[in-house]
Amino acid sequence: MKFSVFAVVVCLTIGLIAYVLMPLFSYEAGNAGVVVVGDEVLLPLPTKVTKLVVEEAMLLRKSIREWRKEPITITQLSMLLWATQGLVEDAGFGWYRRTAPSAGATYPLEVYVVVGERGVSIGSGEFLKAGVYKYDYLRHSIKLVKEGDFRVDLWRASLRQDWVRDAPVTIVLCAIYERTTGRYGERGVRYVHMELGHVGQNIYLMATALELGTVAIGAFYDEEVARVVSVAKNERPLYLFPVGVPEEPYRASFDELAKLYEKLRSKP
Ligand SMILES: Cc1cc2nc3c(=O)[nH]c(=O)nc-3n(C[C@H](O)[C@H](O)[C@H](O)COP(=O)(O)O)c2cc1C
Repeated sequence: MKFSVFAVVVCLTIGLIAYVLMPLFSYEAGNAGVVVVGDEVLLPLPTKVTKLVVEEAMLLRKSIREWRKEPITITQLSMLLWATQGLVEDAGFGWYRRTAPSAGATYPLEVYVVVGERGVSIGSGEFLKAGVYKYDYLRHSIKLVKEGDFRVDLWRASLRQDWVRDAPVTIVLCAIYERTTGRYGERGVRYVHMELGHVGQNIYLMATALELGTVAIGAFYDEEVARVVSVAKNERPLYLFPVGVPEEPYRASFDELAKLYEKLRSKP
């Protein structure tokens, strides 16, 4: 009896100390609603930030490979990561539906982001620490995996495609195949790749709506990318998406498109 009272007192004291000290280890960085707690960055929550409707985003979607020497903002990064695997609904029983469909809700994908030096602005002239981060969809946060600017290493690993080296950030989509093949056997492999396509298009459309540019990268050395990003043993990197502010904004209109269709239909 005496011991349990003692245990309760100890727990309460530890809890109180943690509560009092927590603000010392977390701080609000910049002025864009970013809270940094140790190695975790709580991203601004997803909200309506773009003006484009979906058909405009589809019309304007284009692979972009040249960027201005400008950072993207933490809000833009938040929206891009939410587009990959962000949650949209508490579906009960510990299942949270996400922005992309998943075969049997097995959710095999894991998302990393390689952030360059001064790659992501957080307001007040401050930037996110350069490094590799992993996205936590439940907390809508990113956790630092390792610090440093790894863009040149990623560029080497992706057959020296310059748009990987020059982009302020690159999103790296990885899969844990076993989550899906465990339920569907060999067929699960194709399901993982289909899911990857859904997420890839989400990134393209979100980037377009945010007036950013991206390009899907499938050509890279798997093992090298895995090493640069320091992915977990069971994660396979499958798709890279460098993102930046386009050098030239791409313009298109439905009027021009109508003319193109007219021309094509006029041919015998
Ligand atoms: C699976 C896949 C892999 C791709 N890999 C690369 C790549 O490694 N490097 C690159 O510059 N573009 C890559 N692309 C982008 C294509 O070149 C691009 O989508 C295509 O030229 C059509 O242009 P658009 O996306 O502007 O419509 C890839 C696209 C897909 C779907």
